[in-house]
Amino acid sequence: MKKKRVLVLADLPGDGLARLRQRCEVTVRTDGAFSQAELAELIRGYHGMLTLLTQRVEEPVFAAAQDLQIVANCAVGVDNIDVQAAARFGVVVTNTPDVLTDDTADLTWALILAITRGVVSGDAVLRRGGFTGWHPKFLLGKSLKGSILGVIGAGRIGRAVLSRAAVFGVETLYHQRQRLPAELEGKLGATWCDLDELLSRSDIVSLHASLNEQSRHLLNERTLASMKDGSYLVNTARGALIDEQALAGALRSGPLAAAGLDVYEREPSVHPDLVALENVVLLPHIGSATWETRVRMADCCFDDLITFLTDGRVPARALGGAPE
Ligand code: GLV
Repeated sequence: MKKKRVLVLADLPGDGLARLRQRCEVTVRTDGAFSQAELAELIRGYHGMLTLLTQRVEEPVFAAAQDLQIVANCAVGVDNIDVQAAARFGVVVTNTPDVLTDDTADLTWALILAITRGVVSGDAVLRRGGFTGWHPKFLLGKSLKGSILGVIGAGRIGRAVLSRAAVFGVETLYHQRQRLPAELEGKLGATWCDLDELLSRSDIVSLHASLNEQSRHLLNERTLASMKDGSYLVNTARGALIDEQALAGALRSGPLAAAGLDVYEREPSVHPDLVALENVVLLPHIGSATWETRVRMADCCFDDLITFLTDGRVPARALGGAPE
């Protein structure tokens, strides 16, 4: 039987590519991200595609991709893919849930600790020669113990962030449209509340919602202004959940004391007003960036491509189940 053709738009760690090559005819292109017109041209004749979160895949690509059956997206977020258009054209989309949950939750806590305790600013001050001796009022941060953490979006990563709070003595609130089952709330020790209450009561707010038209700019001038005075904001989810211009204002004039960001509205660009501020820690989208997790994410994608294209089974990670 003729081998199926797969377009891999990434250079990934691990041996998954070698496994895929044994079963399929594979082309690797690492010179993207491509425009929709370029990808629509490139994708012709391929049955499968592996994408990174930096590659948008929209309706014109699915319309042009007559042979395409599956897109394996090497990320848990799929906001780079028009999944509704994929379903209309009968294309299965998979992502990489679970395998990155713990590392992303850990990095979220790294940012919480960094901004409440001056980890990055302290390093910068010292390197500038500002450490002239121990002083009782030097670089005072905020005690985590007794603080309130508000998590927006209690999916896998949000819940993993909540579950780490108890060791720091941090109380937790969470908000999402659908409340978690009471048993799970009890296990996490987290209390549901509406968004306004969460923003006004939390000392630290951490974003873990997925990005869609409803959640875009969830934190904007109005909602940022309703945050507690001297509070902290962390975002390891998607940049466009926050209006960056409004965030810069809230960091300059209050109510925010500091923010820790791993994601941005227009990656890899970062709003110049944020770069100019000292009370924000800026990381280059590394939530899942460990060897172990990136190999696992790659394996998810290669396994799903192999399962679907050569074994004929719909992968368990297919979003929304099998197409009609
Ligand atoms: C990373 O941001 C991901 O969605 O996996």
